[in-house]
Amino acid sequence: MNQQPVVNWAAQVLSAYKVYRSGDDEVRALDGVTVGFESGRFTAIMGPSGSGKSTLMQCAAGLDRLSAGTTIIGDVDLSTLNEKQLTLLRREKVGFVFQQFNLLPTLSARENITFPLDLAGRRPDAGWMDHVIATVGLADRLDHRPSELSGGQQQRVAVARALVERPEIIFADEPTGNLDSHSSTEILTFMADAVERFGQSVVMVTHDPVAAAYASRVLFLDDGRIVGELLDPTRDSVLDVMRRIGP
Ligand SMILES: Nc1ncnc2c1ncn2[C@@H]1O[C@H](COP(=O)(O)OP(=O)(O)OP(=O)(O)O)[C@@H](O)[C@H]1O
Ligand SMILES: [Mg+2]
Repeated sequence: MNQQPVVNWAAQVLSAYKVYRSGDDEVRALDGVTVGFESGRFTAIMGPSGSGKSTLMQCAAGLDRLSAGTTIIGDVDLSTLNEKQLTLLRREKVGFVFQQFNLLPTLSARENITFPLDLAGRRPDAGWMDHVIATVGLADRLDHRPSELSGGQQQRVAVARALVERPEIIFADEPTGNLDSHSSTEILTFMADAVERFGQSVVMVTHDPVAAAYASRVLFLDDGRIVGELLDPTRDSVLDVMRRIGP
């Protein structure tokens, strides 16, 4: 008998359409996307500006609803949830790293990191919290506010905030977009480590072939559709596909 390997999906988006209307204009930001994100895998999403990357992430993370199609996080179909249930599920299962960090300016780095847990009324597991802080290398900056941190340090706080909850899946929308190459390498190594050592699932949008090569799978979007996929990417194999698909 032919046995199918069992795949554990952290999140799935099935036959997904997202249409934005403004006046008579209609933009199909997602135009029939079906994709699963495996548990314990680091996936990168690439594609030209306007190809639907952020829309796919926001919908897969339950931050926005699809016009048609199905979003599943873990084994829960999001369409079965009301807004309150959706908020709770997101709090419990999803970490999101925004391009602009989205840190709270009046809270210290430490308070920013534990903020989602505080919201959920949970205490951080002390050992894990220490480990995350040691890994992000911010032990001596924890009492500083975001305005007293560099861009790279702020983004590390944002990644630590997503990791400390040990969510089922972390979505990171261009987490290294504004960073110098040193800070960028730190963040990428940190996320790749979390996947490798702790089985964390990460989905990351990036424009940078070097960043994409940290992932074990790269998906290419164009015009709201998936137009390519690479496993075990290298900088050069990613560049090859980008050349074929166009800017
Ligand atoms: N709230 C919105 N209202 C109307 N159109 C939108 C909205 N959000 C996105 N779009 C449109 O949907 C399409 C996909 O946008 P999206 O932000 O997902 O692209 P992207 O691949 O993330 O681009 P970038 O690389 O520039 O961040 C674009 O044509 C965009 O203009
Ligand atoms: Mg975007």
